[in-house]
Amino acid sequence: SKGDYEHYMLKEIFEQPSTIKNTLFSHLNTENSDIHFENLDELKEKLVKAKRIIIVSCGTSWHAGIVGEYIIEELARIPVEVEYASEFRYRNPIITKDDIVMAISQSGETADTLAALRYSKAQGATTFCICNVFNSSMARECDFTAYTYAGAEIGVASTKAFTAQVAVVSLLAIQLGLERNEISQEKANALVKEIKTIPSVVNQIFATDDHIKTVAKNYTETTSFLFLGRGINFPIALEGALKLKEISYIHAEGYPAAEMKHGPIAMIEESLPTVIIATNNEYYDKLVSNAQEVKARKGPIVAVVNDDDNEMIDTADYVFKVPRVSDMLQPIVSVIPLQLFSYHVAVLKGCNVDQPRNLAKSVTVE
Ligand code: M6R
Repeated sequence: SKGDYEHYMLKEIFEQPSTIKNTLFSHLNTENSDIHFENLDELKEKLVKAKRIIIVSCGTSWHAGIVGEYIIEELARIPVEVEYASEFRYRNPIITKDDIVMAISQSGETADTLAALRYSKAQGATTFCICNVFNSSMARECDFTAYTYAGAEIGVASTKAFTAQVAVVSLLAIQLGLERNEISQEKANALVKEIKTIPSVVNQIFATDDHIKTVAKNYTETTSFLFLGRGINFPIALEGALKLKEISYIHAEGYPAAEMKHGPIAMIEESLPTVIIATNNEYYDKLVSNAQEVKARKGPIVAVVNDDDNEMIDTADYVFKVPRVSDMLQPIVSVIPLQLFSYHVAVLKGCNVDQPRNLAKSVTVE
């Protein structure tokens, strides 16, 4: 049930401290915080020696895949490709028995993702899935399943499943990095220690919900949005845009911030707001200059920044503050205000947020 919440989506957004926690602690040894994935033993060797991981997924799960690509490549130094399941399966992809094909799916039933997995399996690849539904088709058919423990997700717009997927992929990357000697035990311990704080970090962001709602009130008549992010926050720009378009029907495009000058900048004007995810990482200064370029063309700016931000705050019209965490863990945190923002815009517009038009929770047709 929705309990005290007006919509499932809001309930599910607010459940994230506990769903992230459940997911993390299902894969962490309570005594020593070692990472473990049940039944992975026989596949571990293959995974650790993998020359390549291909992630296949759709929609929000595809965005989790891109976050995964950045984290796995950074920590484990295994090349990762992220593919739309539909594109991958239809183009006669090159797959060998040395490949690991990893599906990410909330439902475990998405037709294109399932077909991509079956195809890969038939080519001899090792198949792996990160999935939220116990015993789903993908879980049954894959060589290995790492579950997310987000609980049933009812809202069509995926929120808690996404952060749980990112949590699992992060643990996996740390574990692979360690086993491949790409990161030290100390670094792995420090990351695990920090990842355990994420549920309470997410909880802190909820205190800003009223502010997010107030900001949302300015955009109920807006017809188009640009979302920009760089590095590991790039997929969060895509996800922020997808959330907004699917539940509020406002056109929104996510872009890597540096691509702005290769096209989208032509669109910037007073009626096109830009959401910039500018948490404090090595790209921060570049994002500040992107923001200044937008401002110079009278484009309104909403920025997701860290609590200790001191530059973006002067350029943006509105900021959503989030606590600062290691760059690698920032996506789970940065996405929260964007989920809330799209929720409020959609509700203020009178949209049916839990069951947006034309969409189904699980896309089991091709
Ligand atoms: O169940 P799956 O994770 O495989 O679903 C994939 C997409 O259909 C899904 O993420 C969709 O994009 C959501 N409506 C996004 O909020």
